[in-house]
Amino acid sequence: MSNLEKWLSRADETDARVREWRRHFHRYPELSFEEHETSRYIYETLENIGGFELSRPTPTSVVARLSGGRPGPVLALRADIDALAIHEENTFEFASERPGVMHACGHDSHAAVLLGAAQILAAERQSLRGELRLIFQHAEETPPGGAQELVEAGVLDGVDAIFGLHLLSWLDTGRIGLIEGAVMAATDNFDLTVRGNGGHAAYPHHGADAIAASAQVIANLQHIVARQTDPMQQAVLSVTRIRGGEAYNVFPEKVEIGGTVRSFDPELREDLLRRIRHTAGHIAQAHGASVELSVQKGYPALYNDASLVALAERVTVSQFGEASIERSKPTMGAEDFAAYTRQIPGAFIYIGARSEAKESHYPHHHPRFTVDEDGMKTALRFWLALVDQWQLEH
Ligand code: NI
Repeated sequence: MSNLEKWLSRADETDARVREWRRHFHRYPELSFEEHETSRYIYETLENIGGFELSRPTPTSVVARLSGGRPGPVLALRADIDALAIHEENTFEFASERPGVMHACGHDSHAAVLLGAAQILAAERQSLRGELRLIFQHAEETPPGGAQELVEAGVLDGVDAIFGLHLLSWLDTGRIGLIEGAVMAATDNFDLTVRGNGGHAAYPHHGADAIAASAQVIANLQHIVARQTDPMQQAVLSVTRIRGGEAYNVFPEKVEIGGTVRSFDPELREDLLRRIRHTAGHIAQAHGASVELSVQKGYPALYNDASLVALAERVTVSQFGEASIERSKPTMGAEDFAAYTRQIPGAFIYIGARSEAKESHYPHHHPRFTVDEDGMKTALRFWLALVDQWQLEH
């Protein structure tokens, strides 16, 4: 019996534990940077499994190092563990017991599946080479994100490669999404305050109308992508907030505008921010108003290493068959896994968890989001087969 056959023979019994863990996390969700109970539960579960060198690099994260019986390379696997400020509308018995907080992106399943892999592999550590480093990461959902903190805390020291995965409600259960190169965009949020001077609506010529100026600013911001960006490069600029004014006959002093700007190329990323400042400033000035810009830098763009995706593809074909592969496309979404792949080769893999019959087809971050738990079975087998393949090839 090969190592992998032995590991997989234990997966069926572990599936039940994975489901219990996932339901526990789902019932008790915690927001980014507040995953105190979640991380304690993970730590204690790993302690009970035994065999790991456990650490808490930040107050709400856990890193488990499993040293094999022989020297070899270091492979890291990452699961994010945080939930969102959303009030759950699911009514199943393990729905969130915390009003206004919900696992609406599937991170509960990521943590549970990685615990499942930990349980099986810990029992087999003598057959492993090198080190397996399991990273239970806090705060994926909220910039600056947990990944960057963990990188700074040294969790990648000595690591040769890192993989992450995400269960998805837009990919059918049983399918695995692979994508080489650009995966998700760099994301920055911006706030613009357009200042005019207040006054009576009947006498616009006595002041500077911040509302009329804002309308022009918003219209012209759209030209940054449409007219000033290379059409062969991806970028999106969306204005998503606007606030100003109270009365029918009074110009407000200021209007606040907010939005997000996303791109892949690092130079373009900086250029877009410069152009927002330039365009908004000059348009406002032309209307006698002024502008203040503040930028909250988000996550960098996520790129998958080609050779690691090829490894994941070999694993997928051998375990699930060629037909299970979905050739995914880049999106303008964001993922703080990028903080790892900026340092070392990494790949982020999509695992299907969509089933209309099981009502796991709602979009991520929707109050009725859930995963098809059969997707966790795929994910567990993917992790095990990946570790095995990695060990064979390195
Ligand atoms: Ni997510």
